[in-house]
Amino acid sequence: SQPSPRTLVPNRAQTTVIAHRGASGTFAEHTLAAYQLALEQGADGLECDVRLTADGHLVCVHDRTVNRTSNGRGVVSTLELAQLSELDFGAWKANGTDAPEEADWTSPEHTRVLTLERLLELHADAGRRVELAIETKHPTRYAGLVEKRLLELLHRFGLVPSKADGPSPVRVMSFSQLSLKRVRQMAPELPTVFLMERVLPWLRDGSLPHGARIAGPGIDLVRANPGYVAALHRAGHRVHVWTVDDPEDVELCLRLGVEAIITNHPRRVLDQLGR
Ligand code: G3P
Ligand code: CA
Repeated sequence: SQPSPRTLVPNRAQTTVIAHRGASGTFAEHTLAAYQLALEQGADGLECDVRLTADGHLVCVHDRTVNRTSNGRGVVSTLELAQLSELDFGAWKANGTDAPEEADWTSPEHTRVLTLERLLELHADAGRRVELAIETKHPTRYAGLVEKRLLELLHRFGLVPSKADGPSPVRVMSFSQLSLKRVRQMAPELPTVFLMERVLPWLRDGSLPHGARIAGPGIDLVRANPGYVAALHRAGHRVHVWTVDDPEDVELCLRLGVEAIITNHPRRVLDQLGR
């Protein structure tokens, strides 16, 4: 028999807190500094966006171009990793007031472009279980190469679960149904997250496309339509909400029993959860 949907709803202490682009409220997003701080702050998980470089490396960059988050200009997919590595991805943002002073967070290693491979090394060295939420960005252009490279890396780090394994620490997220479909074909046991900014009419009953086990609604959607979270739970899905920085939104997520909160301020949210 199917488990009761209520058994999927965690209590306050069990809500997973995931650092969005690292502790990106404090340090520049997607830098090693932001991810190291998130781990030091006790985040349960790390979120990142991945894009393919011209020479086939996956790098953690949100936008199509490097213009907003580095001192360079250009489209990520037209630049090689060596070119991206010359840029500074830290200087565009002033560190938050809660930035620790003692560490050398501004060294070139901490602010240059972060490859997914380097992030997976950091994850492997964390010394505790850390969730990884990896988002494929605009992957439709590369005929499956983003997912292929991603799966190669995850296999290399032993992060692709087999049927016999327990819950996977990794999940692949996307707004793209095509990307989720490809991941499911390549690694059926790897949990996927369908990201959404609005409720698609044919998914109103809480169902998700292509075997996605987790729903990733934005906080605006949840605020406007809290009943949808119940529909997702009734359909047996976990719900991971982004990007939740406002304490009132954190409370709303807790009331609704969402399984994970994705935030730019992991320490603040952990404090609010009493952890
Ligand atoms: O965690 C999902 C969320 O990151 C999706 O939106 O634009 O921040 O990648 P975005
Ligand atoms: Ca993202």
